[in-house]
Parts: sequence; C-alpha cells; structure tokens
Amino acid sequence: MPPAYILAIETSCDETAAAVLKDGGVILSDIIYSQADIHKKYGGVVPEVASRKHLDVISQVVSEAMGEAGLKLAELDAVAATYGPGLAGALLAGLSYAKGLAYAIKKPLIGVNHIEGHICANFLSESAPPPPFVCLVASGGHTHLVAVNGHTDYRVIGKTRDDACGEAFDKTARALGLGYPGGPIIDAISKTGDPASINFPRAMTGDFTNFSFSGLKSAAVNHINKTVSAGAAVNAADVAASFQRAVVDVLVEKTVSACKFYKMDVIALSGGVASNSALRAAMSAACGANGFRLYMPPPALCTDNAAMIARRAFFDCAAGRFDDLSLNADPGLRLD
Ligand code: KG4
Ligand code: ZN
Repeated sequence: MPPAYILAIETSCDETAAAVLKDGGVILSDIIYSQADIHKKYGGVVPEVASRKHLDVISQVVSEAMGEAGLKLAELDAVAATYGPGLAGALLAGLSYAKGLAYAIKKPLIGVNHIEGHICANFLSESAPPPPFVCLVASGGHTHLVAVNGHTDYRVIGKTRDDACGEAFDKTARALGLGYPGGPIIDAISKTGDPASINFPRAMTGDFTNFSFSGLKSAAVNHINKTVSAGAAVNAADVAASFQRAVVDVLVEKTVSACKFYKMDVIALSGGVASNSALRAAMSAACGANGFRLYMPPPALCTDNAAMIARRAFFDCAAGRFDDLSLNADPGLRLD
C-alpha cells in the first residue's frame, strides 16, 4: 500500500521548512520560516548563523506543519529530510531532528537529495508532466539540465562549470547595492529597465552540456565599477534588466537545444531561479514556438520548500526504500 502521510523537513540553506503530504499529491501543510532577514545584513548566508537558527525554530515549524495538517505524529507513515547537498551544519540540524523524530515515533526515515526534491516539485500538481522530459534546475547552488526519464530516473545532461545562475543573480544584486537575496529584487527592478541597454556576454551558446555564469557576473561587476570610477550614475534597472536578459537567453537556448537533441517535447522548470518572471515568459514563448509543452511549478514551489522533499520521499516510501538512522548529512551530494 502506498504511504498516505509523509512529513518532510528541509534545512539545506537558510529556509527552515516542514510539510505534510497526503497520497503523494495533496499538500496538507507547507510551512517555511525564512532567515533571509537575518542574513540580509551580511549580504549573504552565514552558515553558522543559519544552523543555529534552524535549531531554534525547527520544532516550532514541524509543530505548525503537523497542526495545519490536523494530524498526530502517530498517523505519519514516514519522516523525510534533505540530507544533501547544502550547508553541513544546516543539513545536520534538519536531518538530526528527523532522525530523532523517526526513532521516537517508530516510523521509517527517508533521506532526500535536495536537487531531486527540486525536480519533484513538478510532480506536486495534477497537471504534472509525465516523464520523459527535460528539466532545468536553476537555483542558488546549482544549474543543471536533467533528462527525467522516470519519476526517480534522472540523468544530468548539462551543468555549470563555475557559478550557479542564482549565485550570479545574488552577486550582481550585491554589486548594485540591492540587498539579499538578489534574484527577486533583480526580477522586480528589471521591469523598469532596458534589457537591451548593455550587451552582456552569453557564455558557451550552442553547447547545452555546459553553462558558465562567472564571466557574466564579472562583466556586470566591471560595468558597475567602471561607471562609478568615471563619475557617472549607475542605472541599476538597466544593469539588472540587461543582466537578467543575458541569463534568460542562455537558459532558454540551452534547455530548448537539449530538448530537441533528445527528441523530447516537454520542458519542466525548477529551483529558485525558475520563479523569475522573465525566464517564465521567455521559456513559455520558446516552447510555444517549438511546439513543446512547458510545465512550471508555482513560484512558491520553485524556491526551497519541504513539500517537494516530501514528494521525492513518496516514491521511495511507495517502493519500500528507507534509510538507516545512521544516515549522515552529505554537503557535497551530487545528482549523478
Ligand atoms: O532553490 P533556491 O530557493 O535555493 C537553493 O537551492 O539554492 O534558490 C535560491 C536562488 C537564489 O540565488 C535567489 O536569488 C534565486 O534563487 N531566486 C531568483 C528569483 N527568486 C529566487 N532568481 C531570479 N529571479 C527570481 N524571481
Ligand atoms: Zn534549493
């Protein structure tokens, strides 16, 4: 019998999240405590501060998730947690809590790969695309193109050689003095900027197996520094819009090329950057032009959340694949 209720915990970076999923598709609760306001003053996530804050709030976040789901702990079928990749201390905070809980309530434990969780955000909806499809995973830590051949059958077909694209958003926003996290702020101010005003580089076009964002990030920072040293005012909206256009062009071009190469006709998006409004619009247009079907989770399921972790855990639970309580956090866990 497939599991009915899974509680999942996600603490790989700066969000403390817990969710209860019913029957693999009904989100009974999805609680996210974001630490963004705490890390904002440092301009990025401070790992030690993140793990301490997870420890402070995890039990409250889990109680809220259980309360909103209207369930008692004994009614759960399994407890899942992200065990990598991510920040070591942050991962340990959530995983240790999940292990303790699973032991106490005598339910199985399931460790989830965070990147696989992002892919599975696509399976949370009834209109989810059936595999096979090409999934772009674009987050603060990863930029991967993945051939999703089955619900748990993933093959990495392209990835970044240097920075993740979310990281490039965050660093460009920081250079513009816009705050953290930079992606949503760049998304917002780009709406008033001219995306054609600065011709930033598009790296490695024509090769969907490789992405590179460090040159683009440096070009944006150099542009800002040069403008300032020339005594001119930086037009933040124009820089943001031009930078965003360069990222989006590359993400769309490579995802569409990969889809054509593998003779697939469905594209799915995931990861924090997949909530970017310009990327969503451009990918929709490109899919329309190529006759591809596009699936995009709602923005709140693209950024870090525990519902996607529960969705990934559901497949393991249904297949009777569980983890031992000796499971350790693996900060460098990979997809392939
Ligand atoms: O998936 P996610 O929440 O966490 C990681 O696994 O890294 O992704 C966070 C990243 C950050 O770099 C953030 O700036 C970016 O996603 N992001 C965005 C947007 N919302 C979040 N980037 C561009 N546009 C957005 N609207
Ligand atoms: Zn993530």
